[in-house]
Formats: sequence, structure tokens, C-alpha cells
Amino acid sequence: MLEFFIKSVYYLRLCIKNPDTSYLLENMEIQNNQLHLGGLSAEALRTNFGSPLYVYEEDSLRSQCRRLLSCFEELHQQQRLQLHFAMKANSNPSILKVLREEGAWIDAVSPYEVQLALDCGYRPEQILFTGNNTAPEELDFCVENGVPLNIGSLFTLEHFGKRYSGKNISLRVNPGVGAGHHAHCITGGPRSKFGIYHDQLEQAQELAQRHSLRIVGIQSHIGTGIFAPEPMLEAMEMILALAERFTELEFIDFGGGFGIPYRPEQQEMDVNALGQQMTERFEKFCKEYGRPLSMKLEPGRYLVGPAGFLLLSVTNRKHTPEYQFVGTDSGFHHLVRPTMYGSYHRIWNASRMEDELETVAVVGNVCETGDFFSVDQGNIQRDLPKTTVGDCLVIADAGAYGFSMSSQYNSRPRPAEVLVKDGQAQLIRRAERYTDLLRTTQELD
Ligand code: LLP
Repeated sequence: MLEFFIKSVYYLRLCIKNPDTSYLLENMEIQNNQLHLGGLSAEALRTNFGSPLYVYEEDSLRSQCRRLLSCFEELHQQQRLQLHFAMKANSNPSILKVLREEGAWIDAVSPYEVQLALDCGYRPEQILFTGNNTAPEELDFCVENGVPLNIGSLFTLEHFGKRYSGKNISLRVNPGVGAGHHAHCITGGPRSKFGIYHDQLEQAQELAQRHSLRIVGIQSHIGTGIFAPEPMLEAMEMILALAERFTELEFIDFGGGFGIPYRPEQQEMDVNALGQQMTERFEKFCKEYGRPLSMKLEPGRYLVGPAGFLLLSVTNRKHTPEYQFVGTDSGFHHLVRPTMYGSYHRIWNASRMEDELETVAVVGNVCETGDFFSVDQGNIQRDLPKTTVGDCLVIADAGAYGFSMSSQYNSRPRPAEVLVKDGQAQLIRRAERYTDLLRTTQELD
């Protein structure tokens, strides 16, 4: 009894002091004080595949996809819902294949994204190309490959019409409202470069008519990392109000943006309720419109974010009068979100999950002061079980905009990627090496 009481107090203290530790994700557990992901110990993964390392859990990818589809069950059953995975979030071919098996389609933003999706078995009509400041060759590439285009500027529309009269297109609309987790991530409203501003849609229709283009879809994506249903529903209302004036629509695309809880105290957004609300509103619109249109969504983060982890190793410790630094073998060249947006990511000390806590700043090995992992809105310190050089740290929710935004800054190669399922790990991209840094340069003398 006494032992139970002591353990409870100890655990409660952990929860209060280190919320990251108290909140483990699906398919994670603590065994012998060490963190296991998808049935494998983080330390063993690091030993087998090297450090730093991106790890993705296949079950989690599949369950996120199924979860979102089930929120739009009615439309899905009628094959009137397409989830276009925004592959900019993660374009590893093995992940694209898993999502294809789950029924996802693709939102692509560049010709090579299109090419990669085709190479991973997506059919051209399952891809929607939404470029921005699109070059003429990019339009040609999509047309040659039979990939539908979503056009977001009057200039591009006119150019396209002159060259490809008679084609079907969709229009990206800026509905005048935006939302997102950071100013750089708001893609609607008067400050955003994306889409045709809603007050210019009449001109767009005239241009389309002049070149016999059929506008079969309208699309809008107001931002990313949205946590409340209100902005999404508000944007939906505005898009539906604009959609009325187009007579040949086959689909309406409400973009991506579904947020995931990065912070331990964040509750998941009630996507199910949002799905129901969106479906009801959409069906009402379709009734008035006179045709059962399809709904498209373009989730990126929601599908892959929670499935991914960045594993790294502690290489150093030092302190100043202000901070106790924990230095690691990775940095913002591998995961830029904390540095770029001040984004919070949970960090675990996978080598000693339940040890006594200390307050530290977790930093990388890039030669820049902003190279912090433990960011929390200006505060860069975090409570972590006491680290020792050699410990394995795990950064959560790194599956979206993690590897895909990585770089070779400081001439440091990108890490390997591994897919984990049923206690088995498969290398899905090897780590880069010195020669990869030089692949595109002139030969050395
Ligand atoms: N559709 C379009 C046209 C987009 O531009 C985006 C994201 C998405 C869909 C997918 O949004 P999601 O469902 O992932 O929120 N690097 C930032 C995110 C930039 C997103 C850019 N566009 C971050 O790490 O938070």
C-alpha cells in the first residue's frame, strides 16, 4: 500500500513537472525506463540505423487516414470524398505508398511531386496540382501527364487558356479569410499570395469563357495548423457562397489545415464533429446547387505528423549563468519547425524516461544561436529526465514538415528514415553521406 502511494506521488510529480512524459502517444510505451516506439526500443533503433534518425509508425499513418475518412463517412461511402494528401508534408515513397493503400489521393505543388506520385502508383486523375507562381513548363508537364490543374492567378489562367483552350480546370480562390499556427502559415486573406482573390472571380470566369475552359472545381486552403473548427467553417461558408456562381462544378476542395496536438495539454480537435458539420452543410449546398458534387480535402499534417519521430543523441552538456544546455547531433537542418515558427514539439529522454527531472535547453549542432529544439513561445527551456552524454532523445510529431523541410546546411547530411510495423523496422531512406553533398557539384580536382 505504502509502495503504491509512493509510486503514485512520484508519477503525479512526473506528470505535473514534465507534461511531455505524461502524454505518450498511441503505440508508445515505457519498458525498463526506456521509450519504445511501435514495439521497438528507441535506443535499439538508433543503434541499428544510426543517429540522428527519422522513425515513422505505419499503423499510426493508417489509423490517422482511416480516422479522417470516417469523419466524412457518408460522403466517403458514396465515393464523393477524396483526401488529397499534401505530399509536401512528407514525400518519402514508402509513406506515399502506405497512404495510397489507404485510399488517399495527392495534392502536389511541383512537377517533381507529380512525378514522384506517379512513380508511386497514383493515377494522374488522383493528383491535383496546385502550384503557385507556376511557370509555363509546369503547366505543360501536368497537361502532358494528364494531371488536373488548380489555377491560382488570373495571369496563369489566361496563359493556360491561350495554350489549352477547351480543358477542364479548377480555380484556387482566396476567400479573404485565413488562419494558421504562425503568420507564415496563413494562406488566405489580403496578405496572402495564394489564389485568385474572391473579388476577382468574375474576371476569372470571363477569361475561362473566352478560352472555353470549363471550371469544374473550386479550391481554397486558408492555412495550416488550425485548431478550431470555426475558421474552417467560416471559410467553407465563403467558398460555398462563391461556388454558387459556377454552373459546371464537379467538386469543391476545402484544402487542408487540420491541426494536431503538439503540446501535451492540447486536446485533439473534434474532427468527427467538424466532419459532420461540413458534410451537412455541403449536402445542403449540393441540394440547392442541384447536383451531388464531390468534396475534396488536402490534409498533410494530420495524416503524417503524429506518426513521425526524430531520434537524436546527446553529444554535450554545458551551462551559462542562464541555461543548462543539452547539445545534440541534430539541429534545425533536420527539423526546422522550432527555429522557423517557434513551434513546440514534445521531447522525451528515451534512455531514462522516468528519472529525476532537470530544466534544460535542448540545442542542435548548427552554427546558429536559434538552433533550439526545446522552444516554447520564447522560452527555450524544458523539464527533461536528467540527461547524460549518449542518451537518446526523441522528438515527437515530426512526421509532417520534418524531413521534407530538411537541408544540408553546415554541410551536414540528412538522416536516414525508417518505417516501423509490428516490431519490425525497415530502412526507407538511407542516411546521406559526404558524396551526397557533392552529387550535383563539379568534380573536385
Ligand atoms: N493544401 C495546400 C494548397 C497547402 O498549401 C497545404 C500546406 C496543404 C494543403 C496541407 O496543409 P496541412 O493539412 O498540412 O495543414 N511548414 C509548415 C506548414 C506549411 C504548409 C504549407 N501548405 C509547418 O511546418 O507548420
